[in-house]
Amino acid sequence: MSQTAAPTSSVDSLEVKDNRTGKVFTLPITEGTIRANDLLQLKGPGDETGLRAYDPAFLNTASCRSAITYIDGDNGILRYRGYPIEQLAEKSTFLEVAWLLRHGELPTQTEYNEWVHHITYHTYVHENVKRFLEGFRYDAHPMSMLCSSVAALSAFYPQAHDIHDPEQRNISTIRLIAKLPTLAAFAYRHAKGLPIIYPDNDLTYVENFLSMVARMSEPKYEANPVFTRALEILFILHADHEQNCSTNAVRAVGSSHVDPFSAVAAGIAALFGPLHGGANEAVLHMIKEIEHPKNIPAFIEQVKTGKGETKLMGFGHRVYKSYDPRAKIVKKLADEVFAQVGMDKDLEIALELERIALSDDYFIKRKLYPNVDFYTGLIYRSMAFPTDFFTVLFAVARTAGWLAQWEEMLLDKEQKIARPRQIYTGYAERKYEPKITDRFPGVHNKDPLRK
Ligand code: ACO
Repeated sequence: MSQTAAPTSSVDSLEVKDNRTGKVFTLPITEGTIRANDLLQLKGPGDETGLRAYDPAFLNTASCRSAITYIDGDNGILRYRGYPIEQLAEKSTFLEVAWLLRHGELPTQTEYNEWVHHITYHTYVHENVKRFLEGFRYDAHPMSMLCSSVAALSAFYPQAHDIHDPEQRNISTIRLIAKLPTLAAFAYRHAKGLPIIYPDNDLTYVENFLSMVARMSEPKYEANPVFTRALEILFILHADHEQNCSTNAVRAVGSSHVDPFSAVAAGIAALFGPLHGGANEAVLHMIKEIEHPKNIPAFIEQVKTGKGETKLMGFGHRVYKSYDPRAKIVKKLADEVFAQVGMDKDLEIALELERIALSDDYFIKRKLYPNVDFYTGLIYRSMAFPTDFFTVLFAVARTAGWLAQWEEMLLDKEQKIARPRQIYTGYAERKYEPKITDRFPGVHNKDPLRK
């Protein structure tokens, strides 16, 4: 693109005058964006590099072209490969959605049968992985266990490093989707001090997961069908969400051409944070702190006057500026699950929090609506999952999306290793003048037990 290059149509362009030089540039607009690299031709006096865009946290930067997930945040729309999330949640299965995300089309019966067969066949992990997990302390966070065991799988499948081979990509994708529930369940059983339950390949994906988590002495686990369907729907809702923090992490790490086990481990690490997948856990901590519906007005006041220090967890979203469409489905699901297990005080607090927040100017002005995490924690807890396990459930589901996005990134000819620029704000060159005299002071052993 040069100063004189003509865009496809004069309407689809941006005319910019660089006041430093008086030069006018015409930058093409395609798909609602300008190319950041087109700015490089805008050079001030003595500037050799050219103009750059500064966008901390990618507030207004598209980092890729993607055909997987569509979100319209203003109108609360979420679609996977064009299919509305509401229809998928009502009619499909998680494995059908996982196929759809990766392949772009719904599977035929033959494709689906084969896919389910492969996923089911690969649910077992190497016995050494089990021993690896046993090395953790009893109070290890299951997300830490999941993250490190997924990273460890990279060492068990050295062939997976050949990410340019479609067959290797395929088997790695199958292995990851198949083994995540096994690793998650092993982490759960470890924390509880319960014996490991191996996969039961007669069961569906979700039933098998529940069996590995909850089975005790019974020879065959029979899951509560309301819980099974609820978890299937929650997995579908969490399967992908375009360029969120963890997907961006998977793409960025994967762009170095590392194997997918390592890239997905990076996604799990990103998801662990309380501003991302950890929010459902934070919602329950918040509700516990509020303790009683009568304390809600004081809490809301604290949120409004706390200058961002206290947040209403499970509210707000970078993209959704209306009700998160997933939260609507989750709320309905919560009604169904609570009809089975009974309403509790915490759900009452959540409902009242939502009611007050949705009618309060502070939240209305900032377009803060419940996000997917607001009610999921309550459902998970009613199914007897411990709080620190909620994000693990999210990770199991999101693995399908991470892998679809990872492969799309690898096959995208425009993508290169992710490497943002910075605005350097540090010192100019200065002379080294040490403040220390002893460079190798060693360890001063002050332990009274050792002489
Ligand atoms: N409670 C109170 N105020 C909030 C909240 C909240 N949950 N979220 C945003 N705000 C306020 C901010 O303080 C800010 O106010 P100001 O304009 O007076 O400074 C304004 O709303 C805009 O917020 P930002 O922080 O700029 O919004 P951003 O897009 O950066 O953050 C985020 C989005 C991180 C999700 C934020 O809303 C948040 O922290 N929410 C709570 C955590 C949460 O629920 N995360 C789950 C997200 S969904 C997911 O990851 C699956």
